[in-house]
Amino acid sequence: MESRMFTVITTRRSTRRFKDTPVPEDLLRQVIEAGRYAPSGGNNQTTHFLVIRDENVKEKLAAQAEAAFASMEITPDTYKSLAGSIRASQKGGYVFHYHAPVLVLLANRKDYGNNMADCCCALENMAIMANALDLGSCYINQINWLREDPDMLSYLRELGLKENERVYASLALGYADTADGLPVREALPRKGNDVTWIG
Ligand SMILES: Cc1cc2nc3c(=O)[nH]c(=O)nc-3n(C[C@H](O)[C@H](O)[C@H](O)COP(=O)(O)O)c2cc1C
Repeated sequence: MESRMFTVITTRRSTRRFKDTPVPEDLLRQVIEAGRYAPSGGNNQTTHFLVIRDENVKEKLAAQAEAAFASMEITPDTYKSLAGSIRASQKGGYVFHYHAPVLVLLANRKDYGNNMADCCCALENMAIMANALDLGSCYINQINWLREDPDMLSYLRELGLKENERVYASLALGYADTADGLPVREALPRKGNDVTWIG
């Protein structure tokens, strides 16, 4: 028998078009708690969740990211998604968080070896929880790429990022902009992610 959990995991897909509808407080709290209950290296529990709903803050983050990416050069070694952000920023009108009603930044201590691993465990718990609650979500990497950018850092500190923290991952969250408001859930066939069974 296939468990409900397996279905929730395999039908989680990235949502990149969101309705303006706010995420109900009780659902948002469940998503955040799912992240807080993720495992952490040595049970450190140093992941810091910055939950952004304020439109002005989201706008300012998008503008700062656009300015930072627009000043970067693309070389043959530039990671293709980063090159995409640079190109879109140089063109203008780039909003990395897709205007999602909620943007959750996942920060951790910069001198802690499992900082990104812990943030990503939390992020995936939240993405799965979101799907279980009929909310769409998308992993957002742009603030991680700009985590040492001085202007971005100084703004994030105004928002509550601590001196020794950096942002390693983010999650856009909200109702999908589809006719029924549900995220597209068609499972993507796996072409990679090899499995070697031993024994
Ligand atoms: C480490 C990582 C970084 C990602 N960064 C972004 C991103 O910055 N923007 C975005 O739209 N999607 C991002 N994604 C989402 C992937 O593009 C997506 O998971 C992948 O294409 C598979 O599609 P699915 O999530 O619908 O199964 C990221 C995913 C991961 C795991």
